[in-house]
Amino acid sequence: MANNYQWFPGHMAKALRAMREDIKLVDVLIELVDARAPISTGNPSIQELAEGKIHIVVLNKKDMADPEVTKEWLDFFRGNGMLAAAVDSKKKNEVTSVENLLTKLARDEFKESDARFEAAVRAAGGDPGKRNVRIMVTGIPNVGKSTFINTFAGRASAKTGNKPGVTRGKQWIRLKSGNDLLDTPGVLYVKPLSEESGMRLAFLGSLNDNNLSMDELALDFVKWCIEAYPGCLASKYGIEETEGLETMEAIGAKRGCLKKGGVIDYERAAGIIIDDFRNARIGRLSLERPE
Ligand code: G4P
Repeated sequence: MANNYQWFPGHMAKALRAMREDIKLVDVLIELVDARAPISTGNPSIQELAEGKIHIVVLNKKDMADPEVTKEWLDFFRGNGMLAAAVDSKKKNEVTSVENLLTKLARDEFKESDARFEAAVRAAGGDPGKRNVRIMVTGIPNVGKSTFINTFAGRASAKTGNKPGVTRGKQWIRLKSGNDLLDTPGVLYVKPLSEESGMRLAFLGSLNDNNLSMDELALDFVKWCIEAYPGCLASKYGIEETEGLETMEAIGAKRGCLKKGGVIDYERAAGIIIDDFRNARIGRLSLERPE
């Protein structure tokens, strides 16, 4: 049976309400998206939520994405007047660069940002001259929020505890730069805008696999891959790329996924293919390109 990629669990409204409260506490919103599908893994509501705040789009897991396409995405976001960076959250120096971005991009490319920033601090009830910048990380599940926060905070940081005038129970991490990071990320959920967008989320593992037929998912992936990155599956698995199902069967046969009587074990083949993609073993593949 074909997968319904637009199935949506429906806890978005509750999560958004919780985020709205947290966002009131911060000056800067770091929105993590997956560099392999920055639009599908983003949440359109963020634009409205980020109103009056500094909003930085971070293309995470850049080590898994097609570098050329990531460059195109950075140009795309920056071209639309947004602050954007691409990082591998497992690398300290790359993550630190996001903090530098606040100052650097504000000066180099967004000259009006200094004023915007001061306004944001004032709007958050602060005095730009006196208090630290408060930062929050948001993103959909599995996009790398915890990894980013851990690397960003690093060893040199310490939890600063509850602050007067700040909602109880919130922990702030003092960053080396003196700025404060909210230790719990804002979790966003996304209702796929289209069947295609949902399919990309499913490839990445951002939809619950339990609600999907993995055979169908792998077949859809194989079809997509043949079209978008021709030759990639052929060189990875040492097979010939033909049409989707045949190619999937060739991969299964090559990897010994056979049942009694030499029948292809689609489930095992699907598991291998999806796992290989999710761990970037097929290559650095981007699922989306700017239009
Ligand atoms: P979340 O809080 O947004 O839900 O995501 P989390 O940090 O738990 O990250 C989800 C998975 O993505 C983790 O892998 C994490 O290691 C991986 N990850 C996060 N950022 C990056 C990145 O920039 N590059 C790469 N290559 N991977 C990244 P996992 O397999 O679930 O856990 P683990 O085995 O790595 O611990």
